Amino acid sequence: MRSVAIIGAGMTKFGEDWERGFRELVTEAGIRALEDAKISGDEISAGYVGTMASGSLVGQEHTGALIADYMGLNPIPITRVEGACASGSLALRQGILAVSSGLHDVVVVGGVEKMTDLDTAAVSQILGGAGDQEWELFLGATFPGLYAMMARRHMHEYGTTEEMLASVAVKNHENGATNKYAQFQNRITLETAMNSKMVADPLKVMDCSPITDGAAAVVLAPMEKALSYSKKPIEILASEQATGTLALHDRKSLTSVNAAKIASERAYKKAGLTPKDISVAEVHDCFTIAEIVATEDLGFFAPGEGGKAALDGRTKIGGDIAVNTSGGLKATGHPVGATGVKQACEISWQLRGERGAGQVKDVEYGLTHNVGGSGATAVVHLYKRGY
Ligand code: COA
Repeated sequence: MRSVAIIGAGMTKFGEDWERGFRELVTEAGIRALEDAKISGDEISAGYVGTMASGSLVGQEHTGALIADYMGLNPIPITRVEGACASGSLALRQGILAVSSGLHDVVVVGGVEKMTDLDTAAVSQILGGAGDQEWELFLGATFPGLYAMMARRHMHEYGTTEEMLASVAVKNHENGATNKYAQFQNRITLETAMNSKMVADPLKVMDCSPITDGAAAVVLAPMEKALSYSKKPIEILASEQATGTLALHDRKSLTSVNAAKIASERAYKKAGLTPKDISVAEVHDCFTIAEIVATEDLGFFAPGEGGKAALDGRTKIGGDIAVNTSGGLKATGHPVGATGVKQACEISWQLRGERGAGQVKDVEYGLTHNVGGSGATAVVHLYKRGY
């Protein structure tokens, strides 16, 4: 299998977008990634796109063909990939497999979602489809509700507090303030987060990722040819995916996502790295509790210590490990199919030293962690500079 590199990255500004539709968003991100790689569409031999719910959210299925058509990439094969909120990382993984196997040389990977055309209740219903429709959604569970149960259990077992949850939001808004693509670029205080409207006890508005429109894209090439395209290719050291139970109530633990633990253990082993080697990580903070659980599952902190670590500033830029320098899902926004690809863009820019005011010093290795549903799908990627 060949080693694979990211040779270009691009994304749209995330947020509530009334100017552009689904196809314009994904095309803009794709063109930005191609421009960043300084290649034309003629050099691309395949594409993969992650989108969770385009049919329900904008009435558009058959999105691979739509994108090939609208981006002028016909007749190359473009395949849609779906794994709930992990759709973007799954698309990235398919692109990596296609290049590493030798099937294709230069591949474009996109992720996109247009979510704000519907109201919050309708979007919550659609997102609920990422859980167990029959045993969770039908009985009234929403995603804020499911993650609230994880938060309550974490609080019960480890003494995690609402203040610790809020500190994750404060840090991610701080990081989002330096990210021109972020939906929210405003700083908030612990007090603002603690006093925001209750959504699903103990999770408040500021503990939640928002509903977002946006797209992101990367261009992949074999590492052996990457330097002929880009001065700053980013090598992908590992791409691992694991699966857990679809329903939260079937899990052995509510305070850990087993699929994420397994995917990360395999990724570290494949790359010959340990959690201590990672200096920057984009993790799936769909809710603040999810970031705390992620930092424990990924081995950055011991089980039960993620909340305190966040409150103590250990996950800030300049702390032990910089987590969600983009602003995470919380502040950058969470257009569900795009998130995994956006994470890869942020880590590429960090490793290239191009994150401006949000730059982490002396970055050697980066990690992305993307979760579908309440943890039924988890995808972990590890990266290093390829130059
Ligand atoms: N963080 C910060 N501010 C938020 C926010 C969030 N998550 N969500 C909305 N806002 C802001 C809006 O920008 C708006 O501000 P404005 O009045 O200054 O324009 C205000 O709050 C009201 O926005 P609105 O869209 O009416 O909020 P809402 O109450 O309908 O929805 C949530 C808020 C948190 C319920 C909604 O964003 C949500 O469901 N998030 C979770 C999404 C999800 O489950 N994703 C999948 C995860 S697995």
